[in-house]
Order: sequence, then structure tokens, then C-alpha cells
Amino acid sequence: MTARTFVELTPPHPLRGGYDRTLAAGSIDDSFQRRLEPDRFNPAYFTALTHRIRKALTKAPDAERLRWQLAFLLLQNNATPAAVEEAGNLLTANAHPPARRLQDLIAGIRARAHTPQTWRRVTRVNWSINNRCPMACQGCYNPFVTEQVTLSQAMAITDKLAAHGVTDLVLAGGDPLLWPPVFDVIHHATTHGIKVALDTTGYTLTADTLERLRPLASLRLPLDGVTPAVQREFRRNPDRNLVSALKQSLDLCDAADFDKVRVHTVASAANLHELPDIAEEVMSHPSVAQWVIFQWWGRRASPDAVRRLAVSTSHFRAAATHLLTAYPDREVILAEAADRELLNWMIQSSGQVVTFAAGREEEFILGNLLTDSVEDILAHPILDFEAMARGVPVTPIGSRRKDQTHPY
Ligand SMILES: C[S@@+](CC[C@H](N)C(=O)[O-])C[C@H]1O[C@@H](n2cnc3c(N)ncnc32)[C@H](O)[C@@H]1O
Ligand code: SF4
Repeated sequence: MTARTFVELTPPHPLRGGYDRTLAAGSIDDSFQRRLEPDRFNPAYFTALTHRIRKALTKAPDAERLRWQLAFLLLQNNATPAAVEEAGNLLTANAHPPARRLQDLIAGIRARAHTPQTWRRVTRVNWSINNRCPMACQGCYNPFVTEQVTLSQAMAITDKLAAHGVTDLVLAGGDPLLWPPVFDVIHHATTHGIKVALDTTGYTLTADTLERLRPLASLRLPLDGVTPAVQREFRRNPDRNLVSALKQSLDLCDAADFDKVRVHTVASAANLHELPDIAEEVMSHPSVAQWVIFQWWGRRASPDAVRRLAVSTSHFRAAATHLLTAYPDREVILAEAADRELLNWMIQSSGQVVTFAAGREEEFILGNLLTDSVEDILAHPILDFEAMARGVPVTPIGSRRKDQTHPY
């Protein structure tokens, strides 16, 4: 086996490609554009910035950009119904172009306001339990925070999820295998009867860790190319042997008779031509039960990455649809980028719960499972349960219900 260089990179920040570098450091505009950076994406930073903008508005009450920024912060920071109303008022007749998108979101919240929310339950949950990552994928849409729960806090969160009735849990990252307590969390969740899937980068798997992952219902491993140059276009990592490292992870699963593997391939303009070879490689591994091909989603990527990697839905379908029926004994799923546009929610490594909607800056903090109940978080006015029912990406093998149309 080739030696792997366990370099941990900071995954690309969602806004990295969109920063306005001409803004004065520390100005309101600069602090606002940096609000989703991992060490700032928390209620304390949002609240402090809210106060600053309120103060600035006392001097310029009609400034549309400031009003839009304040409305955005109010919606993103554990918004109460009163905060949603205030945001709506700040945006009334606001001609600042991005205000339109928030006006639409608020219209949706208001339309749902009279629907009782106490019925809201979730059975499937995605938890980005560790942020450290050996990759820096182009357009990674994971929102990151710097804080990390302790094992006992992770256990307490798992207890809350189990008590609520969660049956399926995906532990992802980053790379969850770079956080050693993850094995105890898996054990704890499975003793509650929860089916656990692990979404890992495929770079940190060893025979020993695989043995400890036996209780899993599903192990997700990536492969996005069969040649190093193609693989590196999306899932960047300095290791020249990245493709063989990813293949070795699949070999390990074959050798261990670990037949609950799901391969994730992100299809972009860089690798579409290699899809037949990727298919051959994926299907050569008997451990692979499912193969999910994601259309590359560029909403959080830099304009340069979009130019190089974006692939239209029609091209994606033309290149991949025949694969759906090509392997009758395996499950093949195509995941189109439009499915990512839904307002999903996830738990972060700090216990904070967020939605990640369609816009490049649209992560909304809903609460934190260290202090809030699952039920309180689900009652949040911004959650669109109908959209979520169509798109929560977390069903492990064997637990797919007929009404779940996007089981990834
Ligand atoms: C966000 S990741 C989390 C798990 C883990 N860090 C990983 O990447 O395998 C979940 C899946 O989404 C895919 N993904 C990440 N960024 C993407 C993008 N811009 N477009 C499509 N799929 C993407 C990843 O490749 C992975 O298969
Ligand atoms: S491996 Fe996953 S978390 Fe890490 S950068 Fe890639 S998509 Fe993001």
C-alpha cells in the first residue's frame, strides 16, 4: 500500500470565490461578507454585527444596503417570529437587488406561519460531526464551524435524536474518521437502534478502522476519476497517488467482505468523459451496493471553478442515465443539482443546527442541540418541511421508503 500523506487542508470556504477584496478590513461590509467563515458563523458574531449595523442605521435609517444586511442577519441568527417580521419590514420596498431573494423567503415563511408546527418530526438526520478534512473539493457546500463537541456532548445529542425518534443518522464531515471518538458515537447510536451511515473521504480508511465500522448500515466512499489529473480537478488533495488511495479503500472493503459500500461520484465537466471508466472501476468492487452520481453543484464555488466544472442537467442526463439500468444487481442513483436547492438542515461539529438553502450565503442558524431540543429546532419558522421531505440526503441502504424520491 502506498504511503498516504495525511495533510489536512482547510476545506474551501463557500464564499472564498465571492469575496470583494477591495473592502476595507473590519468595515461593516467586510465583516458582513466574512460572517460565514468558520470562526464567525455563530450567534455571538452575528449578534455583535447586528448591534453594529443597528447603530449605523440610526445615522442613515434609509440606507437600503444596511437594511438588507440587518434583515439577512436577523433571519440567519436563530430567527424568532418577531425577527422574521422585523426583517420583512426592513425589506419592504427595498430596491437593493439582493433584497428580492430574502423578500421571497419571507413570503414563504409568512405563508407557512399558520400551519401548526408541533407535528414536525424527522427520522433522518445528517451530522457533519468533524470539520477536519484531507480534501479541498471545488464547490464543497458544507458550512464549517471551528468548534467541536466533546464525546460526552456528542452522546447527549445522540440521546436527544433517539428520544425524538430518529432512525437514520449520517455522520459526515469533513472526514469523520479524523475524529477518533466517532467510533463511540456510532456504537452509542446503534445501541439506540439507529441505523448509522458514515460519509468519509476514503483517504483515511485502514483495515483496522474498517473492522470498527462493522455496525454501520452504509459506508460512503468517493471516486470521481480513474486518472490522477481528472480526480484532482474536483477533490483536490496534494497526494499524487490520490486515485490509488481511493481505490485501495474500496479494495479494503472487498477484502473484508464489507458489502455495505456506497460510492459517491461527483460528475462535472472535468470527468464526464471518464464516466464509463469510473463505472467499470466502481462496479469491479463487489463491496459496492450503491452508486450515487451527483451532478456538480456550483452555487458555492468560485466563478473560475464554475467555468471549468459546471455541467448542464441535460449533459449530465445524457452521460449518466443509461447507467441507471446497466447494473441490475446494484442500485444506481442520479442526484441532480436542482435537488440541492431544497432547504435542508444539518447538525454541525459544534452541535449548531443550520439550514443550507440555495443561495451562496444562505446558511441559517436554527439553534444548537447542546442547549435546544430537537422539537424546538424543528419548530423554527424558516424550515420548509414540504421541501425537506423531498430532499433530506441521508437514507442508508435498506431503509428507503417508497415516498422518498431522493434517497441520498
Ligand atoms: C458534503 S460531502 C460530506 C462528506 C465527505 N466530506 C465527502 O465529501 O465525502 C457529501 C457528498 O457531497 C458531495 N459534494 C461536495 N461538494 C459537491 C458539489 N459542489 N457538487 C456536488 N456534490 C458535492 C461530496 O463529494 C460527497 O460525496
Ligand atoms: S471531502 Fe467533503 S467536506 Fe471535504 S472538502 Fe470535499 S466535499 Fe468538502
